[in-house]
Amino acid sequence: MKGATATARAHANIALSKYWGKSDTTYNLPAVPSISITLAPLVTETRVRFVDGLGEDRLELDGQAARPRELQRAVELLDRVRAESGMALRADIQSRNDFPTAAGLASSASGFCALAAAARAAAGLPFERPAISALARWSSASAARSAFGGYVELPAGAPGEAHLTAEPLFDPSHWELAIVVAVTAEGRKSVASTDGMGLTKRTSPYYNAWLAAAPGLNDEVRAGLASRDLQRLGRAMEQSTLAMHASAIAADPGLFYFQPATLEVWMAVRHLRDEHGISAFATADAGPHVKVLCRRSEAPEVERLLGEVPGVLRTLRALPGAGVHVVEGEEVT
Ligand code: DP6
Repeated sequence: MKGATATARAHANIALSKYWGKSDTTYNLPAVPSISITLAPLVTETRVRFVDGLGEDRLELDGQAARPRELQRAVELLDRVRAESGMALRADIQSRNDFPTAAGLASSASGFCALAAAARAAAGLPFERPAISALARWSSASAARSAFGGYVELPAGAPGEAHLTAEPLFDPSHWELAIVVAVTAEGRKSVASTDGMGLTKRTSPYYNAWLAAAPGLNDEVRAGLASRDLQRLGRAMEQSTLAMHASAIAADPGLFYFQPATLEVWMAVRHLRDEHGISAFATADAGPHVKVLCRRSEAPEVERLLGEVPGVLRTLRALPGAGVHVVEGEEVT
């Protein structure tokens, strides 16, 4: 059948201003706006095959059968594609990350974005980034941002806004920035983002303070990007990160994504600024790893110095990359 198989590639992204909290769990809409960099070379490649006679959808991640919760999220995405396209068949999905889960970068953003693009293409739907972004957002809101390359914004959603999509702000070539990831622990994070933000909303006395602060910090991040002002961007990014984590730490029970090594790296980044005169700024998501934003020209030095911080297991470097694309006729190996 024409179009019944398609493969797509999507890059991971890292938020400069953070999404934390939902305004609507049915449509998975963020309560606050966020801005990210889509990162090369970290890529997920996903192949979707709609197969005649298959009884149920199947999902393999890096060659292993997915866990029930992951499969369920993929099935829900496929159901939306089936409803829109009229395709009734079940699908076989193979997905591979070219970066280890232990690299310290969530694979859910690139994973759901690649799945959304491949599933739509395999079902014969047109390649439209906003449609891919909205579909990916429904599964994982940060995935909406990987539909576009470079610097990308996902606005906050009003309840019921089913078609909310991310929007491209600037191409990858807008500014020669780099992200250095300092990996501080092995293994999966303890509390998934979806659960962590739900707990924060229900129990943290600082959740409303976070909702009040986030839009202004997001505006600062956008202004810093537009004017290529690294001080302005970096300060707003750090404050967005710390305000998000403060709201989570004040939940009941308190939600600590930071480990001791996370703080070691955070302090080392301050030291880089104060003692080495390097414009480097830290951020962290729902995990213990630190991602450091700096100029591309200074990234090798930042990487070398972070590699010496106690508790840092390894480092890796990423640059602004391209949006999701469909790869014709290629197989996931
Ligand atoms: C801390 O997109 O993983 O990385 O929509 O529930 O799947 P769900 O959450 P997810 O949350 C990402 C949270 C974050 C910040 C960010 O990427 O903006």
